Amino acid sequence: MSKIYERLEKCYECFKSKIDFEPDVALVLGSGLGDFADGIKIEAALDYRDIEGFPVSTVQGHKGRFVFGYVGEVKVVIMQGRVHYYEGYKMEDVVLPVRLMKMMGAKVLLLTNAAGGVNRDFHAGDFMLISDHINMAPSPLIGENADELGVRFPDMSNIYDRDLRDIVRNTAKDLGIPLQEGVYIQLTGPNYESPAEIRMVRTLGADAVGMSTACEAVAANHAGLKTVGISCISNMACGITDKPLTHAEVQETADKAAPLFKKLITESVIRLGKAL
Ligand code: HPA
Repeated sequence: MSKIYERLEKCYECFKSKIDFEPDVALVLGSGLGDFADGIKIEAALDYRDIEGFPVSTVQGHKGRFVFGYVGEVKVVIMQGRVHYYEGYKMEDVVLPVRLMKMMGAKVLLLTNAAGGVNRDFHAGDFMLISDHINMAPSPLIGENADELGVRFPDMSNIYDRDLRDIVRNTAKDLGIPLQEGVYIQLTGPNYESPAEIRMVRTLGADAVGMSTACEAVAANHAGLKTVGISCISNMACGITDKPLTHAEVQETADKAAPLFKKLITESVIRLGKAL
């Protein structure tokens, strides 16, 4: 058995010994969105620190727990807070939670994040359906392959599943919520980018920039977990305005956008669940 799978099984056994719940849809909540989980019908919660071998996040504003419950009739597991590569974890740690949620039974993964707007047509407070990504951080699949999860050289031609994207796009349309669409680029962070780096990533075809998500989506695809992602454009990226960027601003815009974002996510989850 691969070392990765061995560790995952330990985490899974730990989860199983404490919680009796099999989710259908898994969600990861980005900056400012964490309290979405507090508003659902909660059945159980599990602090990351209570799972043996589980990486624990250190970022302010990121709570560290799984919440299990119902959005409408849909059984969900929600990651209230994620771990990031820039915190110093190995990529294997960063994507462990996503793999674990797949083991819990999740069939669909909805990733959310706060991201900087690279596309000049975007505005702070916009939402962007992720059509594809560029992963500039190391692949989470480097090292021994977990054959139990997926193949050594997995295809990445449909990372953000077309059918799931259709569902989210239609949901936004029906709710009257404007939704941009574009390519997300993951850099390592934790520093925000320089103006020259933003010009570079725009040239490369990125519409939004962030420090998470792409690696999680790669691991999910590797494990056969269908994925869809939505960014909240919390700020325009460096160099577009001449105001220095702060985490407080990112958080504040994400907080402001949260009520609408929650609406979009709630209805999207309900429809994603129905489509299973
Ligand atoms: N750059 C990188 N990550 C981010 C940004 C940004 O401008 N905003 C929110 N996350």
